[in-house]
Amino acid sequence: MKRNENCWCGSGKKYKKCHMDFDAKLDEFKIDLNKNQIRPLHHLINIEKDIEGIKKAAVINTGALNLMAELIKPGVDTLTLNDAAHEFIVSHGAHPSCLDYSGFPKSICTSINNVVCHGIPSKKDKLHEGDIINIDITTDLDGYFADASRMYIVGGKTTLEAKKLVDVTREIMEVGIKAAKPWHFVGDIGAACGQLARANGYSVVTDLGGHGVGKKFHLDPFVSHDCPANTGMLLVPGMVLTVEPMINAGRKQVETDAYDGWTVTTKDGSLSAQWEKTILITETGNEVLAS
Ligand code: MF3
Ligand code: CO
Ligand code: CO
Repeated sequence: MKRNENCWCGSGKKYKKCHMDFDAKLDEFKIDLNKNQIRPLHHLINIEKDIEGIKKAAVINTGALNLMAELIKPGVDTLTLNDAAHEFIVSHGAHPSCLDYSGFPKSICTSINNVVCHGIPSKKDKLHEGDIINIDITTDLDGYFADASRMYIVGGKTTLEAKKLVDVTREIMEVGIKAAKPWHFVGDIGAACGQLARANGYSVVTDLGGHGVGKKFHLDPFVSHDCPANTGMLLVPGMVLTVEPMINAGRKQVETDAYDGWTVTTKDGSLSAQWEKTILITETGNEVLAS
C-alpha cells in the first residue's frame, strides 16, 4: 500500500498518517516458526469505530448477565433463564448470537455442575440449591459481537470444593488477562492460566478455548488456556479476543453429548467452572470490553 493511499483499516486517513508505522513494526517483528509464532492479519485489527460498536453490544450483554443473577434460584429451570435473557437482548434492539449459531437451538448457554460448556437451556433442567452454573451470553448489535460468561451459585451457598473451583477459575481468567499484552504472544495467556490451575490441583480443558471476537462471533486466534508461553499468534493493539478458561476439578477429558450434539461434560463426572471476558489489546496492555 502506498503512503498517500487511504489506509486499509477504513479510518479514511492516509496510510502514512494511520497504520504505516504499525505495519512496518509488524513486518519487522521476528517470528519464530519453531514456536508456531504467526503474525495477525489485518482483518483482526479493530479501529475506534469498531471498539465503540463492540462496547455498545457489551452494555446489553452485561445487562443480560446481571439479569441472570436476579433470576437464578432453586426451582427455576434454565429455559426460563434463556427466555428472560432473550427478551432482554431483543428488547434492546440486539440479537442473542448463540441462537441458530451452527444450529444451536437456544439464545444462551447454561452449563450446570459437571457440564463444561454449551449446555442447552431446557424446561427439564431445574436448578437446585448448591448447584454451580455458568451462563454464557453473546450479543451482537449492528454487526459487532460481545461475548462473556459468569458463574452463579444457586441459593448462594455450596460446598467448599465447588466454591473454591468457582473462585479459583475466576482468578485463572484474571491471570490470563494480565498476560495478554501487545507485542507478546497469545500463548502467554495459556501459560499463565495453566500454571495457576495446576498449582490448585485442577485440570484445564484444551479441546475448547477462547477466540478472536468483534466483527464476527468467532475469529482467530484460538486462545488456549494451557500451552507454552511465547507461542501462537502475536498480539497487537486493536485485536479483540476472549479469555474463557474451562477448569475441571478432576481430569481434563471432556465429551460431547451424542444426542444433542452440543452439551460438553467432564468425562469423569467432576465439577467444571468457566468465566469469560472479551478484551481489547491496547498500546499498553489490555482493556476489558465485556464481562
Ligand atoms: N459463547 C460461547 C463462546 O464463548 C460460544 C457458544 S456457541 C453456541 O465462544 F452455539 F453454543 F452458543
Ligand atoms: Co461465550
Ligand atoms: Co467465547
